[in-house]
Amino acid sequence: MTEIRRVGVVGLGAMGAGIAQLCVEAGVETVGREVTAELGEAARGRIGHFLTRKVEKGTLQQEARDAAVGRLTTTTELADLAGCDLVIEAIVEELEPKRVLFAELERLCRPDTVLATNTSALSVTEIAAATSSPERVVGMHFFNPAPLMPLVEIVRAQLTADEPFEAAFAFGTRLGKTAVRCHDTPGFVVNRVLIPLLNDCLRVLDEARVSAEDLDTAMRAGAGWPMGPCELVDLVGIDVHVHAAEALYEKLREPRMAPPPRLVAMRNAGLLGRKSGRGFYPYPR
Ligand SMILES: NC(=O)c1ccc[n+]([C@@H]2O[C@H](COP(=O)([O-])OP(=O)(O)OC[C@H]3O[C@@H](n4cnc5c(N)ncnc54)[C@H](O)[C@@H]3O)[C@@H](O)[C@H]2O)c1
Repeated sequence: MTEIRRVGVVGLGAMGAGIAQLCVEAGVETVGREVTAELGEAARGRIGHFLTRKVEKGTLQQEARDAAVGRLTTTTELADLAGCDLVIEAIVEELEPKRVLFAELERLCRPDTVLATNTSALSVTEIAAATSSPERVVGMHFFNPAPLMPLVEIVRAQLTADEPFEAAFAFGTRLGKTAVRCHDTPGFVVNRVLIPLLNDCLRVLDEARVSAEDLDTAMRAGAGWPMGPCELVDLVGIDVHVHAAEALYEKLREPRMAPPPRLVAMRNAGLLGRKSGRGFYPYPR
């Protein structure tokens, strides 16, 4: 099995920076590629800051923090990822840029480099089909925020071979994640279940004329949810939820997958949840 000593992360946004942080904390040399040097530096700064907070909380030694930050280099040149054993892609959620990127990665990396995508809603198989070696392409679907959410879904595309698939699974476990294996179907496991479920919850707001507060209270107290659906969608980002729901609806044509009009209207009005300061609730709460 490919031994993972050096990892490339393409795209150091919300997800990519979190994934890069996990890699360097696990002792792995990591190269992050962004479109500009400033974005790469900003991501490095965010990672350094999160690790400093862990030192302040007493969950990480200062030397370990410094060593972890030292394992991360950033670049704008994709060719700098040539020596990587695994590359994890976390760029914009659009098929064409991902396909272009995977074709370039295939050209630049060794034939045994495992190529992984963190896509939430696109087909891993369609991304893999942009290469002539789709057997080494897998999905590694982390959850936001990657350093905190325990799960990673390891997604087998139509032509993924066993060895890269198991290498990705083993690496997810090495990052301290709970890894599960699944096939490349719309929404994989968690989003396939969670998105229509949250949509149902939000439709109940209008159907049962219950308030957001009472809906959250009901699901916490009556269904044992750790967090109510309105709180959860505010945390995920209303734009992110609407985008994922639209993508699932496009693929499956099941009415339950379609985002409720109330949520689309909130997204259009810029009420995006926590990150915009207002969603179902005002923030800070
Ligand atoms: N945000 C989530 O909740 C979440 C959860 C799981 C998976 N994902 C998936 O992860 C991926 C990234 O999402 P995100 O929320 O981190 O997005 P983001 O917008 O925060 O980050 C994307 C980053 O990629 C960079 N980028 C774009 N094209 C690039 C290229 N060719 N090379 C290098 N960098 C490039 C951008 O500059 C940006 O910094 C998407 O596929 C998304 O579906 C997101």
